[in-house]
Amino acid sequence: MGNEESSIVDESTRPSVLDARNIDAVAKYVKDYNVRKVVLMVGAGISTSAGIPDFRSPDTGLYANLAFLDLEEPEDVFDIGFFRQNPKPFYALAHELYPGRYRPTIAHSFVKLLYNKGMLLKHFTQNIDCLERQAGLPGDKIVEAHGSFATQRCIDCKLPFPDDKMHDIVDKAEVPHCLECNGLVKPDIVFFGEALPAVFHENRSLPEEADLCIVMGTSLTVQPFASLPSMCREGTPRVLINMQRVGGLGSRPDDVLVLGDIDAGVRKFARALGWEEELEAVWQETNPDPKAREEENASPQTRDERLRAEIDRLTEDIDRTLGRTDAYQQRVRERLGDYSDSSSSSSSSENGLAHVFPHLARKSH
Ligand code: OAD
Repeated sequence: MGNEESSIVDESTRPSVLDARNIDAVAKYVKDYNVRKVVLMVGAGISTSAGIPDFRSPDTGLYANLAFLDLEEPEDVFDIGFFRQNPKPFYALAHELYPGRYRPTIAHSFVKLLYNKGMLLKHFTQNIDCLERQAGLPGDKIVEAHGSFATQRCIDCKLPFPDDKMHDIVDKAEVPHCLECNGLVKPDIVFFGEALPAVFHENRSLPEEADLCIVMGTSLTVQPFASLPSMCREGTPRVLINMQRVGGLGSRPDDVLVLGDIDAGVRKFARALGWEEELEAVWQETNPDPKAREEENASPQTRDERLRAEIDRLTEDIDRTLGRTDAYQQRVRERLGDYSDSSSSSSSSENGLAHVFPHLARKSH
């Protein structure tokens, strides 16, 4: 968690609307101005404390770890051309990431609390994990800009595929085929080579109407999503809760940066708003097994250790699903040795996209 000093980019720049550039001033603004139109823009970082890896964190991100699979490039797993030829790696991953295995985080519940209070204008997410739905947000408040696992269809005839059948097949780590034409079925996730859903374009200018913008858990590297914060009017406070500064947030006088762990940042914001207990209560509603949760909280593992353990489990499961042997994995690792070494050095946030998702860096979806 960043301290108060590090949460302010340029203390000499006086805010125009806020009293000061810190989270307490944002909380005061929320009360004084009776804020009713909050927009959120989020990414994979809001789900990492649930155990779902993000994409670009150098050691625990998916792209760094998919390098050990049988893919020429880790991003092939989300490439529509590759999927047509070989859908198995995607379904091995889907088996692991499929909704229902993970609990929403305190950040998801913070958004639900904003909704409960009638303050949520729209939640823009790049995530495909459906955790915002699981946290209780209604579908019409969410823009899943990169699609989600919520629905699926045939990639040839486009016929929707039944949810219950999809669930069974993904559970068995098999590949679903269309009931009509036997084409491949794919969740409505935006793959490379596919357009963003209409709902994104329909709502894209909504941030102009917002009276508060909150950006959390995203590297803001993928367009057109990355341009959403700039759609907010000058003078609309923008809060970034993230491990590091991203996307030019902090450049406007009413930008506030809360750098560090997201869960801690969200709790700090809730405390400033006087919502701490309400937030914990809303989060408890997402708890399927309070006892297990208590034990988990008591675990001395750090966030990175938990994520490392989760990603090890995930890659092992995928290897098993794909029928990989230890000898095979060793060969792949040796083959990828040089690549992995050079890739890890280039996976910094500055050129993260160019490294892991070059096609997305080149052009918008
Ligand atoms: P990234 O992995 O690019 O960025 C996640 C951000 O969250 C990084 O800045 C991390 O430092 C930060 N972060 C992660 N865990 C955190 C924690 N516990 N506390 C604080 N910060 C944390 O993920 P996205 O920005 O969501 O696209 O990636 C955008 C898109 O790139 C994805 O939707 C996906 C990918 O290619 C598609 O699949 C089409």
